[in-house]
Amino acid sequence: MRILGIESSCDETAVAVLSCENECDFSILSNEVASQIQVHARYGGVVPEIASRAHCEAITNLVKAALDNAGLKPSELDAVAVTAFPGLIGALLVGVNFAKGFSYQYKLPLYAVDHIKGHIASNYLTNSLRPPFIAFVASGGHTSLVLVKDYRDHRVIGGTRDDAMGEAFDKIARVMGMPYPGGAAMDKLAYDGNHPVQFPSAAIKGDNLDFSFSGIKTAALNYINSVKQKDEELNKADVAAGFTKAAVGSVVTKLEEAFRQYPEIGRLAIAGGVAANSHLRREVGLFCKKHGIELFMPELRYCGDNGAMIAAAGYFEYLHGTPANLDLNAEASRFEE
Ligand code: KG4
Ligand code: ZN
Repeated sequence: MRILGIESSCDETAVAVLSCENECDFSILSNEVASQIQVHARYGGVVPEIASRAHCEAITNLVKAALDNAGLKPSELDAVAVTAFPGLIGALLVGVNFAKGFSYQYKLPLYAVDHIKGHIASNYLTNSLRPPFIAFVASGGHTSLVLVKDYRDHRVIGGTRDDAMGEAFDKIARVMGMPYPGGAAMDKLAYDGNHPVQFPSAAIKGDNLDFSFSGIKTAALNYINSVKQKDEELNKADVAAGFTKAAVGSVVTKLEEAFRQYPEIGRLAIAGGVAANSHLRREVGLFCKKHGIELFMPELRYCGDNGAMIAAAGYFEYLHGTPANLDLNAEASRFEE
């Protein structure tokens, strides 16, 4: 079967066509992304109204490009999947309404996809991952630990109590004068930090599986301000290295706790924009090696928002779920278990 995936929850309009033969045997026929980063960079973050307008401008041509590059006509598709939640409401509505019109015109079943489940599904695109496994999803808006028992059976076992991990990276980068979003630049810069600033551990004590990034974020901001006040030169690389060490360290601590609580699960998948972080990938790799856990990571191009991951998650809805009606609405905050 062939499925069109549409994503517009934040600052990327993304459309892909997947073909699926057997269970999880995916071929990515096209994968188009129109990033709005340049538009939002001058404001230092995503401006929701501008994001919605940019999605409106991009979506029609992007769907056309995804179909052309896949060499398909709309009538050759079998289904449409669209991110319906969570995300910026105005941005989500662009994708949802386009998908509704498209599915109505071409008489295709429409499937509503949860963005977080989409990120998790990015691991099915090029890996041989099969449930059950634990997923760690970290992006600009989310940080979650999810127990994936089956393709459509997800249980959230941990989340962030304050900031998302990517949001914290972006904030520190911003106050150090780096362009939005600063996560990837922080990743590179951390390699030059020969004397990482020592920040307190970011891991919440106890056997909970929750994360908190506001504490180290504030510690890093205070450190940066105190250096500025003393009129000393800020070693940005040492801040990036120290912040990364504390943030990644807290993730590994909670992964240790998660696998202590679910010893029968021997697989970990990471996903989301922050899953592109090379330090996270390295440290999680070492953790998994030490504990004999099989690790799955999406290719770098599928870590950030993309249509292929939405199409992959939509495929399991197509197999076992119920199509959405034309009264489908977008929701800013919701996780469907
Ligand atoms: O998944 P994503 O593309 O969009 C959301 O759903 O939010 O994630 C974007 C986030 C941004 O905060 C960005 O700075 C962060 O992922 N990010 C990174 C890296 N690449 C992207 N954070 C740390 N290290 C990276 N290499
Ligand atoms: Zn995302």
